[in-house]
Amino acid sequence: MSIDIAIDLGTSNTRIYIAGKGKFLDEPSVVTINLDNDDIVAVGTEAYAMMGRTSQRLNSIEPIVGGVISDFYLVENMIKLQLGKANISRIMKPRVVACIPGEITDVEKRAVVNSILSIGVRSVSLIEASKAAAIGAGLDIRSPHGRLILDMGGGTTDIAVISLGDISVSQSMKIGGGSFDEEIMKYVRRKYNLIIGRVTAQRAKIEIGSVIKPEEDRVCTVKGRNTVTGLPQAVELRSSELWETLAETASLITQQVQNVLEEAPPELVGDIYKDGIMLTGGGVLLRGFDKLIEQQVKLDAHIAENPSDCVINGCGSALKYIGQAEIDENGAVNPLSMPY
Ligand SMILES: Nc1ncnc2c1ncn2[C@@H]1O[C@H](COP(=O)(O)OP(=O)(O)OP(=O)(O)O)[C@@H](O)[C@H]1O
Ligand SMILES: [Mg+2]
Repeated sequence: MSIDIAIDLGTSNTRIYIAGKGKFLDEPSVVTINLDNDDIVAVGTEAYAMMGRTSQRLNSIEPIVGGVISDFYLVENMIKLQLGKANISRIMKPRVVACIPGEITDVEKRAVVNSILSIGVRSVSLIEASKAAAIGAGLDIRSPHGRLILDMGGGTTDIAVISLGDISVSQSMKIGGGSFDEEIMKYVRRKYNLIIGRVTAQRAKIEIGSVIKPEEDRVCTVKGRNTVTGLPQAVELRSSELWETLAETASLITQQVQNVLEEAPPELVGDIYKDGIMLTGGGVLLRGFDKLIEQQVKLDAHIAENPSDCVINGCGSALKYIGQAEIDENGAVNPLSMPY
């Protein structure tokens, strides 16, 4: 039986899509290993539950950092185990579409291809995350019309102007949702001498985080260890004390949106001023992010439906382009990079 699948190896989450079925798996990109023998004890949701809670013997690791593979062995095994959950075995020899961040080196690209080839697939085709995000957000990227897309994941933000199936201008930054978690950790340490874990910081961001002055002052209790006393302590954090710190990081991204617009061809900029910017990726759910873009870039900002799933759904839709000509009879470019 032949099968086509799409894989999004995200910094925060790994997602798998099966042709004809849709998204099948969506789990944190985390692996727990036994430090005594390097055996993999858990992957995905189970491994994430152990993050920051492991013993001296077990360690939970995120093997994808800033959108690129930092530990090849762990990623290879993580994909193998996750495909097993989707009942896909190497006997099926699937054809795969995988996405990559906009600006990665050939070596990093090769690592993605090799980690997928190593699990026994027939072919791997690549697509840039921003193209996949645009397709998944329902934009017709093959038309002669400029589209501006921003995909903010956990570790990267890709901004691109796309027209005729191809990227006209793009920027990729190693800033994502995780950067806001780190800002919260730093703030809490500075202000309250409290060390909190990444999972706690992320929860605080989702519950009370905002990048504009919040209308409602939300409160969230975070627990950690006091750096002075060494004892456990709980602190009540408020949106009103955090938002300015988070806005600073978000402004680095809005600045890049401006840079991309400055470099884009004027005809495409005209289209973009009419349509606005499409926002995808889990990171854009941070409160006020769309409003901040509207204020600073003076563009309408639209959050896609199910923003976290746009990239994997777009990769899934791009499966139909496997094996097609690079440029079709209408002059539109195949959104997939050449297969490996
Ligand atoms: N409701 C929310 N509010 C704020 N942030 C959120 C929310 N939901 C998810 N996020 C953030 O979205 C990020 C994960 O997004 P996503 O799943 O798109 O990343 P990814 O594709 O794994 O990473 P990348 O594309 O950078 O490799 C995390 O930082 C998470 O904290
Ligand atoms: Mg992503």
